[in-house]
Amino acid sequence: MNAMTEQELSAAIPAKGGRRIGEVVLDVQNITLRFGGVKALTDISFDVREHEVRAIIGPNGAGKSSMLNCINGVYQPQEGKITFRGRTFRHMNSRQVAEMGVARTFQNLALFKGMSVLDNIMTGRNLKMRSSLLAQAFRNPFGIGSGEREELRHREFVEHIIDFLEIQAWRKTPVGRLPYGLQKRVDLGRALAMEPQVLLLDEPMAGMNVEEKQDMSRFILDVNDEFGTTIVLIEHDMGVVMDISDRVVVLDYGKKIGDGTPHEVRSNPEVIRAYLGAEH
Ligand SMILES: Nc1ncnc2c1ncn2[C@@H]1O[C@H](COP(=O)(O)OP(=O)(O)O)[C@@H](O)[C@H]1O
Ligand SMILES: [Mg+2]
Repeated sequence: MNAMTEQELSAAIPAKGGRRIGEVVLDVQNITLRFGGVKALTDISFDVREHEVRAIIGPNGAGKSSMLNCINGVYQPQEGKITFRGRTFRHMNSRQVAEMGVARTFQNLALFKGMSVLDNIMTGRNLKMRSSLLAQAFRNPFGIGSGEREELRHREFVEHIIDFLEIQAWRKTPVGRLPYGLQKRVDLGRALAMEPQVLLLDEPMAGMNVEEKQDMSRFILDVNDEFGTTIVLIEHDMGVVMDISDRVVVLDYGKKIGDGTPHEVRSNPEVIRAYLGAEH
């Protein structure tokens, strides 16, 4: 697809909930990733704009999860670089990426099944807690009680997330006992506890029924709207993608074959071919 001018892009992307889609926050440039002889990603470039819902779609094995793993420092691509809010990196570990405000959920849930909903979401808060406790210790080395106040503040934030995701009824329930759809919601809560600027979601609706998908779509849009979080979303259900995303990147066999608004990619012949091919 031809590059759009700034004006064309602004015109193409609707304003949402009073917030406008802003400048580029994440810029993926010429990423190539190999596993031995397998090229999982070949020269992939795309950008993500502030407050956007950006979808990544494509058949199984297209390289979608690998792309998220490159963005959040789990995989180190052999070529290319990623710029996040003006800071360019080639090799950064997951921890550093998290500290820059990028959180993610995983295709296969990474929750602690025996722990309660509340405690699982608290684990997402750990990074924030550690840094604020450290700051506290420097400010007030002999302070008594300030640690408890900090802890309380973090707990309040987590309770806010629990209310927001409408999972109050299960706050003390071990996550492993919840239906799958609710576990996915807890996983989203754990990522939100990091107060991310950019949230990477790897198939948040996989394995869900229609009603669960609708709920999850609504929560994703609410997060985007109310917290202003930029969302990068891998999703298989084309209906969902068409409904909630502003722009879509299409991958096939590790190559980018489409990039544009949902309407544009849906009518792109190469995209149609890739999807029909996958179905037959
Ligand atoms: N850790 C890994 N080691 C070896 N090959 C991998 C690894 N992760 C992904 N791949 C390969 O990279 C390709 C893309 O996989 P993936 O990113 O999981 O695709 P998708 O998420 O689109 O289904 C596949 O061929 C897959 O087998
Ligand atoms: Mg995947």
